[in-house]
Amino acid sequence: MLEQCRRDQWSVSDLDWSGSPRSMSREDEEQIVQLFTDMAGIERLASAMFREQERRVEDPRLKAIFATFIRDEIRHAQTAQMLADFYDVHHFRHYQESESLRAFSSVFVEAIHHLSDDVANAYIVTGELLLDIALLRSIDDHVGDAMSGAAMRLINRDESRHIAIDYYMSAYYASDEYEEKQKLKPKLGLKERAQAASTFSRMLYRAQPFIRDVFLRPMEKLDPRGKRLRAAFKRSQLLGMKEKSARRPFTRFTRSLQAGFENPVLRPVLGDVFVRLSGVGPDFLARLYTDEELTRARGMSYEALADEALEAKQEN
Ligand SMILES: [Fe+2]
Ligand SMILES: [Fe+2]
Repeated sequence: MLEQCRRDQWSVSDLDWSGSPRSMSREDEEQIVQLFTDMAGIERLASAMFREQERRVEDPRLKAIFATFIRDEIRHAQTAQMLADFYDVHHFRHYQESESLRAFSSVFVEAIHHLSDDVANAYIVTGELLLDIALLRSIDDHVGDAMSGAAMRLINRDESRHIAIDYYMSAYYASDEYEEKQKLKPKLGLKERAQAASTFSRMLYRAQPFIRDVFLRPMEKLDPRGKRLRAAFKRSQLLGMKEKSARRPFTRFTRSLQAGFENPVLRPVLGDVFVRLSGVGPDFLARLYTDEELTRARGMSYEALADEALEAKQEN
């Protein structure tokens, strides 16, 4: 993997920026430039996530792999910004990163620092599934232009490596080996735990408007039936349910949220609270997989699940 990470590096100047965009309506141009402007912000956030992963791992090879991922994400941010400029043909208005994205980014980076390894990893995998499988692909289809297509092909090549390692880390954090290590770790003091809890709840509070503005709202147009988004959330849920025992805190957290949301008595009362706590819309909090899909996922290796997530990029 490390060899592949090093071999497949590229730079924005590898792309030919000399062409001109297809003609489009004012509405389309504004929407597309805004999407790429936000994508640049998301990619910068992704680079901060991998900085965190790099800090947490001890294995020198994993550290080196994550170092290349940080570079990948910074390059994606740069590419997205250049795409925004490329499609900003008429300068209809001044484009800025969405307010909710900016507000979320700052608290997210702080919160993730305090999260336990497996919780941080669960957020990262979910983010990549949403971005990589649902959002990126839909943006590219919507733009329907050669420049975007060429850039996305290179970005996707990098994202495939990210997904593979994200799943690899999920397997590690669910392992007995990791569980044993946790037992040896000194317990956090009350002050640290209180601080972690407070940044976490602030992050969740900011997560909902961010997910709504940056993922859900654009996707209403790009993916009107929500098929791709639902598929991405389903993969994240299955990953959280993969192990039969829910030992780790994140798995316990998502499982209890889902159970509360599906409870017919609690749902009308606590529905809103659960939605805000989980950071996602009600459609995606409900259980999206069938019993058969869960049994199947539990019988598969993490590697096979990662491959399947990657294959989904080619489907509709
Ligand atoms: Fe990326
Ligand atoms: Fe990525």
